[in-house]
Amino acid sequence: MDSMESLFSLRGHVGLVTGASSGLGVECARALAIAGADVALMARRADRLEALSAELREKYRVKALAVAADVTVDADLEKALERAVAELGKVDILVNNAGIAPVGSAQKISREVWEQTLAVNLTAPMMLAQKVARRLIVNKMPGRIINITSVLGQVASSLYRIPAYIASKAALANLTRELAVEWAPYGILVNSIAPGWLSTEMTELGLEQPEQRQRMELFTPLGRIGRPEELRGAIIFLASPAASYVTGSMLAVDGGYQAW
Ligand SMILES: NC(=O)c1ccc[n+]([C@@H]2O[C@H](COP(=O)([O-])OP(=O)(O)OC[C@H]3O[C@@H](n4cnc5c(N)ncnc54)[C@H](OP(=O)(O)O)[C@@H]3O)[C@@H](O)[C@H]2O)c1
Repeated sequence: MDSMESLFSLRGHVGLVTGASSGLGVECARALAIAGADVALMARRADRLEALSAELREKYRVKALAVAADVTVDADLEKALERAVAELGKVDILVNNAGIAPVGSAQKISREVWEQTLAVNLTAPMMLAQKVARRLIVNKMPGRIINITSVLGQVASSLYRIPAYIASKAALANLTRELAVEWAPYGILVNSIAPGWLSTEMTELGLEQPEQRQRMELFTPLGRIGRPEELRGAIIFLASPAASYVTGSMLAVDGGYQAW
């Protein structure tokens, strides 16, 4: 690996990104396309996926496919994955990014909200990783799985009461390590990225409140909110040949949030 191309090119690979209809998922998809991978885009809002796939084809000259699906519905996942494999040839990079963060205290949270949060943030990444890994193992192909967790999978939130989110992200972080161990013999490397506060639809309400924004900035050593595109480098790295000896790790993209 003695050139930028051999270290970081994803040409010949196919990524599947969940939650690609907004925020960080859009940037994960752009990152893979910038590095040359073909990309399948998954979320429920099909119109947004179609618009992004057109952008990726046009701007980065890769194949891009919208595969609308609700990640909590197993049959949807199977159908969407099958379509991605049929039209793009394979899926050997999975980015489990879709997530929700309903606000509500531990005293009040309903079983329904708790279960829905775990279904999107934890069960769906597991089920999709299983489906992707099974195919790779049967075909004796290596692969990469990147789970988007959160700094709030490591510590409690200083700002919002989001018990289900916190629990789901902590579980996803440790599930990442388990999958890394289990699938290492097959050359499937599994890592997570833990973003701090980045500006997306998920955080926009908080960011509109000057007091909340100030607290987010105060708790971040770099002193500012992250831009969604600042996730791109981490995605490319973990998907690339450069990360061939990296598995079971968590990469923080958080402006230093976890450093103090
Ligand atoms: N922004 C931050 O500061 C931050 C920090 C740490 C971690 N994260 C994590 O980063 C990931 C992306 O968050 P974001 O900030 O980009 O939020 P966002 O803009 O709200 O995007 C969430 C994405 O998840 C998808 N999604 C939600 N439920 C789904 C379902 N049932 N089936 C399919 N897709 C579903 C949404 O698509 P549809 O609605 O179209 O289905 C959307 O594309 C999440 O896992 C989040 O926890 C974000």
